Order: sequence, then structure tokens, then C-alpha cells
Amino acid sequence: MADKYGPIFTIKLGVSRAIIVSSWELAKECLLTNDKIFATRPKSVAYEHLTYNYAMFGFSPYGPYWRLARKLATVQLLSDGRLATFRNLRQREVKAWMKEIHERWGKKDSSSNKVTLEMKSLLGELSLNLIYSMIVGKRYVEYAAWREDGKQNDSNSWRKTMREFDEFTGGFLISDMIPYLKWLDIGGQEREMKKTGKALNDMAEEWLEEHKRKREYCGEGIDQEKDFMDVLLSILQVEEMPGFDSDTVNKALCVNLILAAHETSSVAMIWVIALLVNHQDILKKAQHELDIQIAPFDEPIDMNGRPGITNLKASPLKVLLSPRLPAYLYE
Ligand code: HEM
Repeated sequence: MADKYGPIFTIKLGVSRAIIVSSWELAKECLLTNDKIFATRPKSVAYEHLTYNYAMFGFSPYGPYWRLARKLATVQLLSDGRLATFRNLRQREVKAWMKEIHERWGKKDSSSNKVTLEMKSLLGELSLNLIYSMIVGKRYVEYAAWREDGKQNDSNSWRKTMREFDEFTGGFLISDMIPYLKWLDIGGQEREMKKTGKALNDMAEEWLEEHKRKREYCGEGIDQEKDFMDVLLSILQVEEMPGFDSDTVNKALCVNLILAAHETSSVAMIWVIALLVNHQDILKKAQHELDIQIAPFDEPIDMNGRPGITNLKASPLKVLLSPRLPAYLYE
């Protein structure tokens, strides 16, 4: 279509107009020079039912609420200061993870010197354990096992709910384009979205009630031991967020961050491992740097605040994208 209509043109998607851009100069014009105009996001039926009506800031329209919510996440969860308070937690989780891998090695067939590991689920559990602990103070694997034993008998339901969330928010619904068809709920998708939204909220509500009960019995506790939900409970007592009550903001931010973090981090780690395995020279260089320069005495290494190994400018995004697109696109 670009050959026929040029590098920028619009199309009608039902009642909405969309712009198609196919040159980097125009993409830069839209996303850099005029970024404020394009900063907001389209509305959708899925976002309405699954993101607490846009209280999850990854889906909120550009404006005061989005700015405040983003600042809360940046300062209270992702800042260097907060990450430093989670240092012991990271070390504990990585140690437990390495131990598990070592135990699998111990159980391997004695005729072989290799053990096959399924990294997707192993790294998925590591990142879920970390993110759950930081946000709601629970290790995911234990929480899932508890749910399996408990009355709900649905250890997979949270994983299933997360998958449904990704599918619905990334999917296409005819009534987003033609709103007057909404009442028909073609294919029953809106009904399913409401169910998934309820499942997300039930879980988050349970965590929030637990956190409130703990406060009643034990007081606020010290900053170093607080998870993100605890921190938000303190802040939202005094700080008002436009458009939403404090419980909704707390649940929405916690669920948003868990959903945003779990697959991105584990997929990035899988890419790193795949790249290292396929580039043995860089793997050797990284091992050498770790052994000789960074941790000569087998001390635990915390990479937070430390430049990358082998490439001082490497960032997770670069690792993730570089195998797919030619390097000149990033220069
Ligand atoms: C290697 C790992 C990750 C990659 C590659 C990644 C990538 C991205 C990208 C491309 C965006 C869209 C940015 C934009 O629209 O401007 C984004 C947004 C976001 N990410 Fe990540 N992410 C990663 C890890 C995480 C983690 C660990 C968290 C949370 C702890 C997180 C939370 C979010 C949130 C909340 C947003 C929405 C931000 C907003 O709307 O303001 N991400 N991420």
C-alpha cells in the first residue's frame, strides 16, 4: 500500500482512523518530534474490563494519572534505592535456583555427562519468584503449591489468567472498531474478559486484604522489609490519585507490574543464554571477566548498578532485539 499511497496515509478501522507510517524519517517525526500528540493509547473493551478501567498505567491514557502512577512504580519499585533493598532477596532466589539446577545434575543418568534443562519454565519460575516477592511478598512456587492444596485447587488458574490477559489485551475485538455492535457480544468474548478480570481482581483483593491484616497486627514495619504493596498502602493513605480510589490503584499497579515483568524478563534471559551458547568466544570472555575481574573470590555478584559484561553499553533491550534486526537500525 505504501508504494501506492506513499510513506504516510490513513485508513479507517470502523469508526477510528489509523495512520500508517512506513519511513523512519516520518516515524521519528511522530514518535520523537511530536511524541506528545502520539503518546496516548486507544481505548478498548479489553482494557476496560481487564485493567481496572485503565488504572493499570501501562494502559492508561496519557495524562496526570499516568504520570503519577508511573512515578510511583519508578521511584518505589524500580529505583536503585529500592532495588538495593531487594538485594538479599535476589541473592536468595538465584542461589535456590542454582541449587535446583545442581540437584538435577546430581540426578542425571550416570552414563552421560550432560543434563537437559527446559530453560523457559526454569527462568519463568525464577522471574515469577522474584517479581512476586518484590511486589506482594510471596514466592510464586510456594504460592502456586498452596493454591493447589487449598480449597481453590487451581494452581494453574493464575498462569491461565495471565495468559488470557495477554491474549485479550493483544487481540482484536470487532466492537472496538464498530462500537454499536458491542451489545451483541459476538463470540461471547466480552463475557470471557469479564471473567478473567474478575479472576485477576479476586487474587489481588486477597493479597491486599492479607497486607492490611498484617498491618493491623504488626504495624507498618520498616522500609527495608516492605514489599511494593506495603509501600503503596502507606503512600496512598496520604496521596490521592485522580480518578481512582486507593485500593483500586494499589491492586492495579501491583497486577500491572507482575504481568509486565514476568515474561519480558525471562524471555530476555533466554535470549542472553541462546546468544552466549551460539557465540562461544563471547561466553569465554564473559566467564573470564567474571572470574578474573569481577568476582575473583567466588563472591555473589549483584549486577545492579554495574555496567554490562563484555559490552559496557549492553542493555536488555539490545540483547533482545539484536538477533532480529540489523545493527544499523539502532545507530
Ligand atoms: C527485558 C525486559 C523488558 C523489556 C524488553 C521490556 C520492554 C518494554 C517495552 C518495549 C515497553 C513499552 C514502552 C513504551 O511504550 O514506551 C514496556 C513498558 C512497560 N514495562 Fe517493560 N520491559 C521489560 C521488563 C519490565 C519489567 C521487569 C517491568 C516491571 C517490573 C516492566 C514494566 C513495564 C510497564 C509497567 C510498562 C508500561 C509503561 C508505561 O506505560 O508507562 N517491564 N516494557
